[in-house]
Amino acid sequence: MTAQADHPFVYDGGALCCEAVPLTQIAAHVGTPTYVYSKRAILAAYRRYVEALAGRSALVCYAVKANANLGVLNLLARAGSGFDIVSGGELERALAAGAAAARIVFSGVGKTEAEIGAALAAGIACFNVESAAELETIDRVARAAGRRAPISLRINPDVDPRTHQYISTGLKFSKFGIAVPEAEELYRRAARLSGIEIAGIDCHIGSQITSIDPYVEAAERVFDLVDRLGAQGVGLRHIDFGGGLGIAYRCEIAPSIEQFIAALLACADRRGHGGKTLLFEPGRSIVGNAGALLTRVQVIKAGAAKNFAIVDAGMNDLLRPALYEAWMDVQPVVLRTGEKRSFDVVGPVCESADWLARDRSLTVLAGDLLAILSAGAYGMSMASNYNSRGRPAEVIVDGDQYHLVRPRESAADLYATETVLP
Ligand code: LLP
Repeated sequence: MTAQADHPFVYDGGALCCEAVPLTQIAAHVGTPTYVYSKRAILAAYRRYVEALAGRSALVCYAVKANANLGVLNLLARAGSGFDIVSGGELERALAAGAAAARIVFSGVGKTEAEIGAALAAGIACFNVESAAELETIDRVARAAGRRAPISLRINPDVDPRTHQYISTGLKFSKFGIAVPEAEELYRRAARLSGIEIAGIDCHIGSQITSIDPYVEAAERVFDLVDRLGAQGVGLRHIDFGGGLGIAYRCEIAPSIEQFIAALLACADRRGHGGKTLLFEPGRSIVGNAGALLTRVQVIKAGAAKNFAIVDAGMNDLLRPALYEAWMDVQPVVLRTGEKRSFDVVGPVCESADWLARDRSLTVLAGDLLAILSAGAYGMSMASNYNSRGRPAEVIVDGDQYHLVRPRESAADLYATETVLP
């Protein structure tokens, strides 16, 4: 298992627990598959950001897409977190969870007019604008509502974050952000639009980033632009560095939250912008290691070429291995003695891409529980109903208590709003 300071999943007497609750207890009462999150670990990671930014004008906007459960959002809202949203759905969720609209930033390349109108009416802090066309739309919607929309332009700094190509967003051939020369021109245009109020500048280069260098490289390019804009009389109140800090799934050495923030603060101070309000949009580094997917082995299928442990969670419940060939740590919930064999841990979905882990050395029998660790981010939030499978239940553990924060979906839930022809 990965040894992270905040890791809330630890063995006690041979049984894996989340905080002080044995996972066997959750499986017995809630069933499987179930996502289990630690309140302590979520809040500890959030507080590490806040403490690293102490004494600064700063806002941590948790990226809702990483884990959008209302219970999770509410814990963070109560702790004072802001939120980074990418849809009207995430706006509604964040508000329903108790988020302060004035601490919400809205990212994403394809905001609809309705979404822009709703966010404006709610009074969000900032729209992170991704194109010239979007700026015009926001201006129009704001003028029609008799308001001024606070905006940042999202810069595409053309920096390689050295992560999986699907989660790289700051290279020039990516659909995200605005190239620097174009952004400079667009800021001048924005300054003349009566429905627009220039609030800041934004940059997000990718996700699961395990080196600080690309962040600093991107920040330098952002500061270059901020300086040129300042010389032209375009002032900015805030700088948003996005999210993307990686976590340890296996033996990756990701920078700590403290190292990451310190590097960007040093860069901001050196460039003379450390006094501006600094925003961060972390998702994975807050919830990733705080969650696990609890699943039960249904069938052991031993073969000449491969052994399969077929579990009750599939690619619809946890898509990361199928989509990115992501490596997720699999651990037995109750340690058993006996010879280890190599297994592929796979789901019941009718796709060969439906695997969760490959070639893992395990001692496992049908009926055993397994925990897929570091599944708190982009697990449930990317789950689907493929194969008419209800999505997992979700539980938040708090010390020696746990709370069901979302029940398992039933088959009837899935077709409840569908109709047949008359
Ligand atoms: N801000 C923006 C504008 C983003 O697009 C993202 C993530 C974040 C913040 C948060 O990034 P984080 O701190 O969580 O890395 N499904 C993929 C990850 C997709 C990330 C998309 N954007 C995965 O499972 O690895």
